[in-house]
Amino acid sequence: MNAISFAAMKQAWADIEAHAARLANVALLDLFADPNRVRTLTYDAPHLTADFSKQRIDPAALAAFEKLAGAADFDGWRAKMFAGDVVNTTEGRAAMHWRLRDPNAPADVKAVPAEMAAFGDRVRPEIDAIVHLGIGGSDLGPRLIMDALKPLKRHGLDVRFAANVDGADVADAIEGLDPKRTLLIVVSKTFTTQETLANAAFVRAWGPAHLAAATAAPEKAIAWGVPAENVFAFWDWVGGRYSLWSSVSLVCAIALKERAFERLLNGAAAMDAHFQRAAFHKNLPAISAAVQMWNREALGHGSYAAIPYAERLRLLPAWLQQLEMESNGKRVSRDGAPLERSACAVTWGAAGTNAQHSFFQLLHQGVEEIPVEFVVNAGPQEGPASHRAKVYANALAQARALMVGKSEAQALADMQAKGVAGAAALAPHRAFPGDRASTMMAIDALTPEALGALLAFYEHRTFAQAVLAGVNPFDQWGVELGKEMANALLPALEGAPAPADVDASTAHWLERLK
Ligand code: F6P
Repeated sequence: MNAISFAAMKQAWADIEAHAARLANVALLDLFADPNRVRTLTYDAPHLTADFSKQRIDPAALAAFEKLAGAADFDGWRAKMFAGDVVNTTEGRAAMHWRLRDPNAPADVKAVPAEMAAFGDRVRPEIDAIVHLGIGGSDLGPRLIMDALKPLKRHGLDVRFAANVDGADVADAIEGLDPKRTLLIVVSKTFTTQETLANAAFVRAWGPAHLAAATAAPEKAIAWGVPAENVFAFWDWVGGRYSLWSSVSLVCAIALKERAFERLLNGAAAMDAHFQRAAFHKNLPAISAAVQMWNREALGHGSYAAIPYAERLRLLPAWLQQLEMESNGKRVSRDGAPLERSACAVTWGAAGTNAQHSFFQLLHQGVEEIPVEFVVNAGPQEGPASHRAKVYANALAQARALMVGKSEAQALADMQAKGVAGAAALAPHRAFPGDRASTMMAIDALTPEALGALLAFYEHRTFAQAVLAGVNPFDQWGVELGKEMANALLPALEGAPAPADVDASTAHWLERLK
């Protein structure tokens, strides 16, 4: 295995920046002078295809990223992750979320989906509702799966989620339910998270018929009162935001039919095989990571918008935000040295077409360019047949409008042709700069397999980006300080005197809110 070469990484970045200087002022449309551009910049992986041709990048610039990957020992780090080596160095742990979907996993790992399904078969006759309590990685994944695969939900089961420690969330979650026909699932890797334990205590007091838990600290769940046989443990080597493949998704195993949860794992395993085996230049998650780094660091775009053109994927941006920004929102390298470059951009987004009628104004006419990642479902669609063409027309039109734009002269000519009054004054408002980048991705259908492949793709892209940036994507120390301070401030809001050492603003608000 090669070691990381910092000198070679520096050289690779110098090359990447030279490519950025070469391409910065080339119009995106001019890049299509290459008749093979779409074919060359379209990459396939199981259930997923991505077309990067509307990005301001070309094969030569991507080749520079391949050099960066070599210098950063991408092959070595990938091999380490898949060997179960300690890649999460600050916590001394492996990162083996992939093992949860590995067809060759050890028997105890492979047994879990069947155990969850068996529990579902046992408990379903006695319940009408499931309340899932968890937050962050113990919430966003299963919530996304349930929403995305809603057509596979079993009839007669009401599935509710609550995460927030704002009591409104948990109050809504149990509203109208019969506790005697409800299963409460408490999901927390650590079983110490304040929000989840507060919500769980409240719902337990309401008297649900069944209690279950998913956790890496089974002894804590049992001590809290969950019957041992209903505690579904998972392993320390599953990071919170990488945990939807584990018992964290117990609710999905119970509430979805047609073996949906196992099929989700199979789809992810297919993406794992692609990521593990394909060389960098054919590897979709790796190439996509390069494009993300290119936009963030070579072209200086601070954020990107993830826009699924599929209502059932509307929760994808929220899940992706934790995955990318909790993993790569870091300012020091694996060995603690300050980073010269960001390891990720800000991730944000919402489902199209809805987003077109809200923030797309900024994407089209705002001062800064913000790259967009479109995700469409190329397979069968639900609902009225006539909607299918419309959703695609909108996705393709938005990507094209961002790229092509409309000059002021064209805006003026269009208005003059229609006899619009005050056309000259309006023209600057009705012009679009264009030349704005996007990626078009498609899953082959919204099946459990394709969803699994898509989510695994994002996990591996996040890892590949971390390797290119030299950071550890598997720890999250940045969430700790706020948690500690919340614990320190809580007594003052519950009647104790305010701590003497707080700043004046915080003291003011403690007084105001107590
Ligand atoms: O505070 C961040 C975090 O630790 C996330 O990484 C995690 O997904 C979430 O809290 C919930 O943690 P737990 O599953 O231990 O309750």
